[in-house]
Amino acid sequence: MPHSLGILLSGRGSNFIAIADSIDAGRIPDARISAVITNKADAPGIATARQRGLNALAIPSKGKSREEHDREVVSALKKNDVDLVCLAGYMRLLSPWFVQQFPRRILNIHPSLLPAFPGLEAQEQAFAYGVKVSGCTVHFVDEELDHGPIIVQKTVAVLDSDDEHKLATRILEQEHLAYTEAINVVLAGKFRIVGRRLIVDEKS
Ligand code: GRF
Repeated sequence: MPHSLGILLSGRGSNFIAIADSIDAGRIPDARISAVITNKADAPGIATARQRGLNALAIPSKGKSREEHDREVVSALKKNDVDLVCLAGYMRLLSPWFVQQFPRRILNIHPSLLPAFPGLEAQEQAFAYGVKVSGCTVHFVDEELDHGPIIVQKTVAVLDSDDEHKLATRILEQEHLAYTEAINVVLAGKFRIVGRRLIVDEKS
């Protein structure tokens, strides 16, 4: 049975598209996307998922408590036998209950080198702070925001000629590569987590 990925998104969906392209091109072997779920019915990413013939589901969050919405999303993920959940621009905090439903099976991508600049507009935060290097992080999701063990990070130099947008564009290119790498690490399952450190087991 191929691994079954569930993607959660709220917006443009470029990370989702990068993952879908990687699967189609065989860069993520033995996996398929069995559900793409959005909390925003008008998210461009969900329209793309539909166009690609994927199982695209809108589960609006508006007017629902976090728990109520999370229960609907988890039930859709389970109904579709999802075994790895990938947050790809999903603008909702998951409840601890949600996180516990998929232990070490929820990934998130964040556009900074965590633990620097968690939260919203990380690229703008990094640019305004004046860092010379930024990047992106794919990490396991735990109960805290942008916090779980790190799987992959990629660095991006901040240039004197940059503005927030140019920097964000170069970070996004690296995000698309980082997510595929991280999914492959997790699906291969050949790693240990020691404290917060993910250590890939040596090849035998
Ligand atoms: C990305 O920058 C990602 O790191 C952050 O939200 C943005 C989503 O972009 N979590 P996209 O919808 O994948 O294009």
